[in-house]
Amino acid sequence: MPGTAIVGLQWGDEAKGKIVDLLTEQNDIVVRYQGGANAGHTVVMEGKKFKLSLIPSGIFRSHVQSVIAGGVVLNPASILQEIDGLKEQGVEIGGNLMISDRAHTIFPWHFIEDGILDGLGGGEAIGTTQRGIGPCYRDKVGRSLAIRLGDFYKPDFKDRISHIVAAKNRSFTGLGIDIEPLDDRAIHEEYAGYGERLRSYVADTTNYLLDAVDADRRILFEGAQGSLLDIDHGTFPYVTSSNSSAVGISGGSGVPSHFLKKIIGIAKAYTTRVGGGPCPTELENDIGQKIRDRGNEYGTVTKRPRRCGWFDAVAVRYSARLGGVDALSIMLLDVLSGFDELQICTAYEIDGRKIEYFPSQAEELRKAMPIYETLGGWKEEIADVRNFTDLPENAKRYVKRIAEIVGRPVEIVSVGPDRVQTMFV
Ligand code: IMP
Repeated sequence: MPGTAIVGLQWGDEAKGKIVDLLTEQNDIVVRYQGGANAGHTVVMEGKKFKLSLIPSGIFRSHVQSVIAGGVVLNPASILQEIDGLKEQGVEIGGNLMISDRAHTIFPWHFIEDGILDGLGGGEAIGTTQRGIGPCYRDKVGRSLAIRLGDFYKPDFKDRISHIVAAKNRSFTGLGIDIEPLDDRAIHEEYAGYGERLRSYVADTTNYLLDAVDADRRILFEGAQGSLLDIDHGTFPYVTSSNSSAVGISGGSGVPSHFLKKIIGIAKAYTTRVGGGPCPTELENDIGQKIRDRGNEYGTVTKRPRRCGWFDAVAVRYSARLGGVDALSIMLLDVLSGFDELQICTAYEIDGRKIEYFPSQAEELRKAMPIYETLGGWKEEIADVRNFTDLPENAKRYVKRIAEIVGRPVEIVSVGPDRVQTMFV
């Protein structure tokens, strides 16, 4: 089975959606396997803009099966909103969308917890997307207060909600949080309604994908967020609550990892980060602002301005190795036009020592001073260039240098959001 995966190699927002969209045509199935509605991207098709958060972009191709696998956390209201919005725009959604009955579901208490708990432990806040993602994953791991989508159709669904609401109300009171107690009946009524509307999409996606593997069908795995936000391997605690690096593909989808034949790592030609946590190459100056303006670096979901900086090759080399990445796709290279010089971070200096690996502790990374290699810039706008060989010499040199330092070939270079603004190297 030629399984292909797309994963972000930085802190998310690497424009993965564009590459997923490009590769969707060559696949039978597209799978989202982790995260929730904390991710978001816009797909432009024939001049029309479509906003996607949880639904794989395979939804635009009638021959492609879109699968939301069990590793995802699902907000029923927001996925229904997404489905309705796409249908209103003429997208056909029926049997071509499948949602795992194993997916854990986000309830109103998760939003409340996301709002109050971030930063409660002291120190810098994680700066979550406030979509209830972390609290839902926490309940999943804790088990006793968790509800999976498959539970919506069981006779004890109402009782489970009552039991959990009572526990959550007690916990809010205990924490001294002054809110109206949650109303189990109203929540049950609302969520039972969502369950009915979602019923036709709900399936055992693990079984479906294992059958697809046996039948040699082509599967594309679509990662959300970026590898450096991975709960186990990222810049903990300033991370998301799932395995957003390539290590999460098998766990989230149920497909054994040896079926993956190619992993494409997506990285911007520079660095961005949203929310809290260390980001060694961040530029809080005119250069950072120029990158932000040229790259329109404002969050799709939360509209927050993204923190911008030079390309961090130490970080990307780490996530490329962690993910077993075969090839790189360098995105938004056009944003870097107009600079006299460009910098690539090739190592860090921490406490006077030169470090070439990515530290495991956020406090260490916070102390890291980037050691830069300076490359010549280019003045020309490159959004209209269609062949790699036609790029300005310094742009080609920049991309090749990234490949050398990261230790992986660059196969794709993107110079704009449109499908045609893509070069295969
Ligand atoms: P959460 O995923 O909402 O819990 O947020 C945890 C951290 O991950 C915060 O720093 C968010 O800004 C970041 N994050 C979550 N989803 C995305 C994404 O899609 N792009 C970029 N950052 C994200």
